[in-house]
Amino acid sequence: MTQKIRIAIIGAGRIGYVHAGSVNDTPELELVYVVDPFEENAKKVTAAFGGKVSSDPSAVIASGEVDAVIIGSPTATHIPLIRECIAAGVHALCEKPLDLDIKNVEEFRAQANAAKINITLGFNRRQDPQYLALKAKVVDGTIGTIEQVILTSRDPGPAPQAYIAVSGGIFRDMTIHDFDMARNFVPNILEVTAFGANSFCDYIKEEGDFDNVSVVMKGANNELVTIVNSRHAAFGYDQRAEIFGDKGMLQISNLSDSTVKSFTKDATTAGEPFMDFFLERYADSYRNELKLFVEGIKTGKVLGSTYDDGRAALILADAAHESARTGKSVKVNLN
Ligand SMILES: NC(=O)c1ccc[n+]([C@@H]2O[C@H](COP(=O)([O-])OP(=O)(O)OC[C@H]3O[C@@H](n4cnc5c(N)ncnc54)[C@H](O)[C@@H]3O)[C@@H](O)[C@H]2O)c1
Repeated sequence: MTQKIRIAIIGAGRIGYVHAGSVNDTPELELVYVVDPFEENAKKVTAAFGGKVSSDPSAVIASGEVDAVIIGSPTATHIPLIRECIAAGVHALCEKPLDLDIKNVEEFRAQANAAKINITLGFNRRQDPQYLALKAKVVDGTIGTIEQVILTSRDPGPAPQAYIAVSGGIFRDMTIHDFDMARNFVPNILEVTAFGANSFCDYIKEEGDFDNVSVVMKGANNELVTIVNSRHAAFGYDQRAEIFGDKGMLQISNLSDSTVKSFTKDATTAGEPFMDFFLERYADSYRNELKLFVEGIKTGKVLGSTYDDGRAALILADAAHESARTGKSVKVNLN
């Protein structure tokens, strides 16, 4: 049997726990460390999936005991940790967003792209089975030339105020997934217009952020991309997509755990609730993203999302942030 890739999870919060579960499901990987300054969080993960606890990411990266890490710590730590991984020759699967400040992303870009290690960005939705099937149909020409892309993402409820305060705003924190998904279908986007509203949540307004946003973007081949986001939805996690072309239309609708529908005297075709939130709805995508990272380490290629995908999504988020605040359309250059 070939040797296992020794891996550490850095950051044992919500997403760290999900990644630990995916590591556990991946036979080529051995979970060696779970690292979190708040050791209680790391212990919850090791209790479920094994590995040693550490509170010191730098020591683990430099230890010689790991071949790869998954960075699921807060956003401000991402680039500093990737830098340490490059120095130690340790591969890195890093959560989105790369950073909240595009200056840091630009400064580090040449070094990241020249690095010998595998740096993969955690834009998991591209690896979701539904979105992979959608992409395959677009690529095989089912709907002809893309004219419009419409992405709807609404969370079941808003994150707590403390999270909103350090999130970098809805465009960089939440819409970032949709900006990346937009580029999955329209890679070169030239112009961004966005509107934001404070419709329901006082503490989001207090933090100077929006709770509802709409973005319209124009691609290099005249494609129009519309993104609709809300920090709440009374009926649960709302994740839908529509791609419209000159030969037809493709749609992805919300998923439920079962397809059972009830018919009673009060209601017909009442379905099961939609999957709860990202942990459930995108569970397969995190596993697929990790599979690609492992395959990339073995083949010496980045097969998932790249550093430059992370950079492009942040440029679009910054443009939307500016547009929503100035009322002006913002031209972008993703090259
Ligand atoms: N791809 C996705 O679907 C997805 C979903 C959620 C979060 N994220 C991203 O993952 C990152 C973490 O988000 P979360 O929701 O899991 O946050 P979280 O607050 O639940 O967890 C973060 C953990 O990191 C730990 N931590 C803090 N500083 C650290 C450091 N220097 N080194 C190691 N660990 C440290 C904290 O103690 C905490 O346990 C963010 O960048 C977020 O944008 C991505």
